[in-house]
Amino acid sequence: MNDDQCTAFLQWALPRIGMRWPGFRRVRRQVCRRIRDRMAELGVPGVEAYREHLATDPEEWGRLAILCRVTISRFFRDRGVFEFLGGQVLPGLARGRGTVRAWSAGCASGEEPYSLVILWRQEPQARFPKTRLEVLATDVDPAVLRRARQGLYPAGALRDLEPQEVEKAFEPVGEEYRLRDELQGTVSFQEQDLRREAPEGAFHLILCRNLAFTYFAEEEQRRILSVLLQHLEVGGALVLGSHERIPDGPWPLEPWSASEPVFRRL
Ligand SMILES: C[S@@+](CC[C@H](N)C(=O)[O-])C[C@H]1O[C@@H](n2cnc3c(N)ncnc32)[C@H](O)[C@@H]1O
Repeated sequence: MNDDQCTAFLQWALPRIGMRWPGFRRVRRQVCRRIRDRMAELGVPGVEAYREHLATDPEEWGRLAILCRVTISRFFRDRGVFEFLGGQVLPGLARGRGTVRAWSAGCASGEEPYSLVILWRQEPQARFPKTRLEVLATDVDPAVLRRARQGLYPAGALRDLEPQEVEKAFEPVGEEYRLRDELQGTVSFQEQDLRREAPEGAFHLILCRNLAFTYFAEEEQRRILSVLLQHLEVGGALVLGSHERIPDGPWPLEPWSASEPVFRRL
C-alpha cells in the first residue's frame, strides 16, 4: 500500500468510524505505517484485501480505530494558551474558591494536566494559596496512562519549557526527565472513552485539545461538545487546540480571548 493508496483508504474508512480525514492529514504517515504493519500481521496482500477483511470481520473496525489514535503531546504545547490561562483565566477561577476543578480530556501521557499543575504553582497563582487545584485527566489508552503515572519523559516533551522551569519541575534520569515527587500524585488519571463516558460532576476548566475537534466527525464533535458543556460550570473555561474550532452552534459559549482558543461558559 503506497502513500496515495493509504490516503484513499483513510478517506474511505475514517467517516465509517466517526472520524474525519482533514484531521489526519498531518499525521497520516504514522497512521499509514501502523496500518501497513497490521496488514502484514494479518498477511493480507494489499489494501483491497484489507477492505475485504474489514467486511468479513466487523471487529477489525475496532482494531482500525485503535491504529488511528494519535498520542503526540508535549508540556506547555501551544505556550500562548497556557500564558493566557495563567494571566487571564486561573486568577479569576481561583478567586473566592476553595477548589478549582479541572478536567483534561484526552490527556496523553500527562503532559497537558501536569503543565496545568506546573502553571498553577508558578507566580502569580501563588497569590491564591487558599485555593487548591484538583485535576482529573482521562484518556482511552491504558498505555499512555501508565506512562503518565510514571511521570518519565524524553527531552523532546519538555522542549517548550524554559530551562529554569525544567529544573524546578523535573530531575534528569539518564537521557530522560522525571517529574519531581511533589508534583507526582497531583493529578488523578482515569481510563475513559470520551465517546462513551464522562466523569462525574462539574468542572471550572476543561481542556479538550487535539482530540475530538481535530479527529472526530462533525456530528460527533457536536455531541461531545454538548457533553463537555454539561460538565462545565457557568463562568468556567473550555480550552481547545490551537488549530481547532467550535463546531457550528448555537452554544452557550463566548470567546474569552481574541487570539487563543479559550471560551467562557455562559
Ligand atoms: C493528540 S493527543 C492530545 C494530547 C493533549 N490533549 C495535547 O493536546 O497535547 C490525543 C489523545 O487523545 C486520546 N484519545 C483518542 N481517542 C480518545 C477517546 N475516544 N477518548 C479519550 N481519549 C482519547 C489518545 O489516546 C491521545 O492520548
